[in-house]
Amino acid sequence: MSIALNPFIAGIPANPLRALFPFAARPGMLNLASGHPSRDAYDHAGLAEALPKAGADFPAWTYGPSAGDPLLLEALQEHLAEVPAGHRLLVTSGAQQGIDLAIRTLAPPGAAVLVPEPVYPAVLSACAAVGVRTVGYRTDAADTAMAGLAAALAATPDVRALYALPTFGNPTGETLTRTQRLAMLALCAQRGIPVIEDDPYRALWFRVPPPPSLLALAPKVPGVAVIHLGSLSKIISPGLRLGWAVAPDAVAGPMQEARQASDLQPNSLAQRVALHYLRLGRLDAHVARVRGLYAARYDALAGRLAAAGFLMPPVDGGMFVFARMPEGTVRDGLFDRAVARGVMYAPGAAFALQPGDAGFADRMRLCFVGLADADVPVAADRLVAAARG
Ligand SMILES: Cc1ncc(COP(=O)(O)O)c(C=O)c1O
Repeated sequence: MSIALNPFIAGIPANPLRALFPFAARPGMLNLASGHPSRDAYDHAGLAEALPKAGADFPAWTYGPSAGDPLLLEALQEHLAEVPAGHRLLVTSGAQQGIDLAIRTLAPPGAAVLVPEPVYPAVLSACAAVGVRTVGYRTDAADTAMAGLAAALAATPDVRALYALPTFGNPTGETLTRTQRLAMLALCAQRGIPVIEDDPYRALWFRVPPPPSLLALAPKVPGVAVIHLGSLSKIISPGLRLGWAVAPDAVAGPMQEARQASDLQPNSLAQRVALHYLRLGRLDAHVARVRGLYAARYDALAGRLAAAGFLMPPVDGGMFVFARMPEGTVRDGLFDRAVARGVMYAPGAAFALQPGDAGFADRMRLCFVGLADADVPVAADRLVAAARG
């Protein structure tokens, strides 16, 4: 039987990272591909204390407001989320739902959203699902005036929003400077388009905190609107599926309506677990410990790979580095050779805007947080051996 499908849904590009999952299950595999925190990066004791408290609360078991549990909204505002005047806070099912809601709310089918290149592939899925076109913009450290973004804006008359990942990016690990952030906001203000700021990695800095968020800088740039997305996934647990959005009132209301259309409200039990976890007062110490773990793992991985000729861009936080393979690497069959040696990476091509585009073919995204400390040098040595052919 042939069933006609919505062409937008049928046309969602396969997420190239999901295709790697089966390799990760092989015994002994050291996985540098997936963006998953290692087991020792969770506060197991804190979660075990929060869970029964959540279960004992009746609101954990019933329907709740679509904007989120009022007590969790209060706790998020106290611990994590800045909510400027004229803005509202919503609980989301992770930053991913925030991206989806913002895009659906701002861009009609056929219109364009600008996305950084290389791109976090799930943004492409969110746009494709609603028939929104994605147009890439490039940034590099020297591009203080955001010339790459200005050019993309000029070439895209029907752009409705800018998606930005300015802090410890995925896949690049890069962070925009304060100057670049202000330039980005100014360009969007001039063009009259809002910015969707995806910010799930902000808390994971190694040595110094990152520059202020676009949301925090927005008052310096009259006329710009920022929809800011945060997440509990990288600092408490991705399994909770909880994040938040801070959006101007005029956008937050419609985003809430859009979320009601798909799942009515955030998961009540998960919200209570998060609430009781935040009330334990353990988050700051936990995140400080995780920062130390991740910084040490990045240093160990980058040091070993750089010594073998990989180009390791400096990374100041987050979970990823977009490494460049050494000159002379035999790229043909490299992923298979790496898997045969028991190590996985995410191929650079997975982050190109168009499937099949050869851009970034000499890059690999390495997630340095998912392995135990002792496995990091082993994974690096396996990768070096695979790159040598
Ligand atoms: C850039 C970026 N945005 C959003 C997400 C989704 O995070 P969440 O688990 O909060 O939905 C991820 C997850 O890896 C990510 O890397």
